[in-house]
Amino acid sequence: MTGDHEVQIGDWPLGVYIHIPFCSTRCDYCAFATWTDRHNLIDEYMESLRVDIARTFADRIRDDRDVATVFVGGGTPSLVPPELLAAALREIPAVAGAEISVECNPDDVDIDLLAALAAGGVTRISLGVQSMVPRVLQLLGRHHDPDNVIAAVEAIRLVGFDSVNLDLIYGTASETLDEWRTTLDAALQLRPPHISAYGLTVEAGTPLAADPARYPDDDVQADEYELADDVLAAAGLANYEVSNWAQPGHECRHNLLYWGQHDYLGFGCAAHSHLAGRRWWNLRTPERYIAAVSEGATTEAAGETLDAETRRIEGLQLSLRTKQGVPREALDGDALDDLVEAVGDRWVLTRHGRLMANEVSVRLR
Ligand SMILES: C[S@@+](CC[C@H](N)C(=O)[O-])C[C@H]1O[C@@H](n2cnc3c(N)ncnc32)[C@H](O)[C@@H]1O
Ligand code: SF4
Repeated sequence: MTGDHEVQIGDWPLGVYIHIPFCSTRCDYCAFATWTDRHNLIDEYMESLRVDIARTFADRIRDDRDVATVFVGGGTPSLVPPELLAAALREIPAVAGAEISVECNPDDVDIDLLAALAAGGVTRISLGVQSMVPRVLQLLGRHHDPDNVIAAVEAIRLVGFDSVNLDLIYGTASETLDEWRTTLDAALQLRPPHISAYGLTVEAGTPLAADPARYPDDDVQADEYELADDVLAAAGLANYEVSNWAQPGHECRHNLLYWGQHDYLGFGCAAHSHLAGRRWWNLRTPERYIAAVSEGATTEAAGETLDAETRRIEGLQLSLRTKQGVPREALDGDALDDLVEAVGDRWVLTRHGRLMANEVSVRLR
């Protein structure tokens, strides 16, 4: 990540994001920076990550802050040899008790992989479940079998991670409310302490975007969101951000750091970083990232420094989406009908408001 930037370092612990840009197949809806035909680069890429992380913490971040949260996302982190990931993780000066999450695809997960991740310090597994209904998985262009999700969660429990998250997607065209209920019920049967449920989003350039017949229906998606909130809350998972529900104490600390506008360093191609109002993003392809690290050059593609007002508004936008809401003076809540409610001296989105979070956001002041 070598580069020269004068920044004011904050006193909140630092987060680290690590991007793994490899997948077995590309899902029809996905626009993330990931490749299915470059597995030959995996070893070199993982070594570049290790070197980049080691250099960064040795040369650049000379403050007292240790790292409190790490999130390894992708792409498919469960596709790379876990010992190579562990070697990169070892270069991070993490605090005792740091939250270290790794995204895994259900098909990749077995006891050996999980035990190696646990030995590497990983504390939390986030499983890309999306749906427990084979027909819906097929519509999404996913290839795993729901039975593998059950086996994966059993293995995660056996190995003894602190926490587990299941990622779900709702709003696939023609998915019925009953099918979504089946997914929610099957997911809850596995007693996960955290669930993320994302409305299917049409991302430009994806096969999904090219086929309007497969676009989600807004009304169905809204009904599905409300069903999710009812079912998850009844199971003891409280909503704490528009798309996230958790048992108390199982909220994802890394995401809380993002939503609190705190500082994090991103490693790997296409990873984003933020330090004290300056943010930047890395070179997009694994080849260019590997080349930059081997030359000792910057891995940064571009960046920007936010002015104080933009930063303030972005902070409010992020906070609005969480159960913290925003200070009363940031919003004319009385004019927003049932979209927000007063909680102490804050305005917090109601459930209906969570469905309209973007519309409420533009009213922030
Ligand atoms: C980028 S994936 C990485 C993890 C892993 N490869 C997987 O797919 O499970 C992280 C999560 O983003 C969500 N996601 C990705 N693209 C999405 C989209 N277009 N709409 C809604 N959710 C999406 C999925 O729930 C997925 O589990
Ligand atoms: S959704 Fe996950 S598995 Fe599918 S292409 Fe994107 S990163 Fe890969």
